[in-house]
Amino acid sequence: FTPKMELRITKPDDWHLHLRDGDLLEAVLPHSARHFGRAIVMPNLKPPITTTAAALTYRDSILKALPPDCCFHPLMTLYLTDDTDPDEIKLARRSGVVYAVKFYPAGATTNSQDGVTDIFGKCFPVLEQMVEHNMPLLVHGEVVDPNVDIFDREKVFIERILEPLVQKLPHLKVVMEHITTMDAVKFIMSSREGYVAATVTPQHLVLNRNALFHGGLQPHSYCLPVLKREVHSRLNSASKFDAACGHRNGLHGGDVETGDGGGMRAGQRMWPQEGRYGLRQCSQSGSCSEDCESDDIDCRCCKGRKAIASAVTSGSKRFFLGTDSAPHERNRKECSAGCAGIFNASTALSLYARVFEEAGALDKLEAFTSFNGPDFYGLERNTSKILLEKTPWRVPRSYLFASGELIPMCAGQMLDWLPSH
Ligand code: NCD
Ligand code: DOR
Ligand code: ZN
Ligand code: ZN
Repeated sequence: FTPKMELRITKPDDWHLHLRDGDLLEAVLPHSARHFGRAIVMPNLKPPITTTAAALTYRDSILKALPPDCCFHPLMTLYLTDDTDPDEIKLARRSGVVYAVKFYPAGATTNSQDGVTDIFGKCFPVLEQMVEHNMPLLVHGEVVDPNVDIFDREKVFIERILEPLVQKLPHLKVVMEHITTMDAVKFIMSSREGYVAATVTPQHLVLNRNALFHGGLQPHSYCLPVLKREVHSRLNSASKFDAACGHRNGLHGGDVETGDGGGMRAGQRMWPQEGRYGLRQCSQSGSCSEDCESDDIDCRCCKGRKAIASAVTSGSKRFFLGTDSAPHERNRKECSAGCAGIFNASTALSLYARVFEEAGALDKLEAFTSFNGPDFYGLERNTSKILLEKTPWRVPRSYLFASGELIPMCAGQMLDWLPSH
């Protein structure tokens, strides 16, 4: 496959988007509406969108804020709480405008204080109604347990919540949002196809946690789940390797590119075929592989950014585009206790294209951006097209709006792929 200088692809959808309200909504909506046909709109406003009635009102305000002649369809969601009435699901389904229910563990992220404290308790009748009405559950997959290291919160959430959940309700549609770890990739790949899927953000595909500290603290790279490592810590010399790895019980982590000939080459797929990964253990002998099945929580063999990028560019239908574009006004990010969230609506497509290009998988980009999402949700694919031209363009340093300034992802940088109509 030879990369073309121009790609014409089916108009993408964004399966995870924060549009906010008021001035901020007006400022950010045109950026999404320009390149995306539809978006799943997150309900974490203040107060959260917990009812179909509130979703209808919010939807109206989005439609009002749309630029003229713009065909962009907001797909609304409800914010799940401990007190959500199971009958609300019926109303939501009947409304024809609510497409999913969002599960935020209470305290996990922005405006999640009204979220769920016990998904298997009070929420269970709601989940059963969701199965009944084929309503997907969208999950912010991080535990809030302060004893769990922030970099392990996704892995522990899978163990404590997601695995039991899909076992108890095998016919519940679940989207694990913004996945960041190899653990999540493995969970998705080993779950029932068509019932469990994941969205992936541009930031978790192109940045690792070094970006948070590069040249000083970088609030515009801060989001939740927090950026992860590139791969498991790796140093080529064996002795340094031990020190860096710090594994207990004789278990060691490593990298898939250990320069010993055993690693992966650029563009090589981790998962040539669905459901086929090896079961090699993380061990001292030989380099630890991308297939490491170690249960040692400290083992993060290739569990970082690279794992996500490989999964997405493998062509699996289980992964689809969800930007998690989450704008906060500049002063709310550049301050003490700054907000989590990256505003990427204007740069996301260019970045996704870069990831697929670097993996030699541009032929799989369209399925990720435009097919896998609607197929999972049981919706028609878009019929219109957009063009992605391989032309350098500079991302604005900021966008001014009525009540402040927004700093986009990759502000001031040159990007390669320019989307247009
Ligand atoms: C898909 C996969 O790899 O996961 N199949 C494929 O690419 N050959 C199937 C799927 O996940 O739905
Ligand atoms: O970084 C994030 N920002 N992660 C989330 O889960 C929420 C989002 C927001 O709403 O700001
Ligand atoms: Zn390992
Ligand atoms: Zn989000």
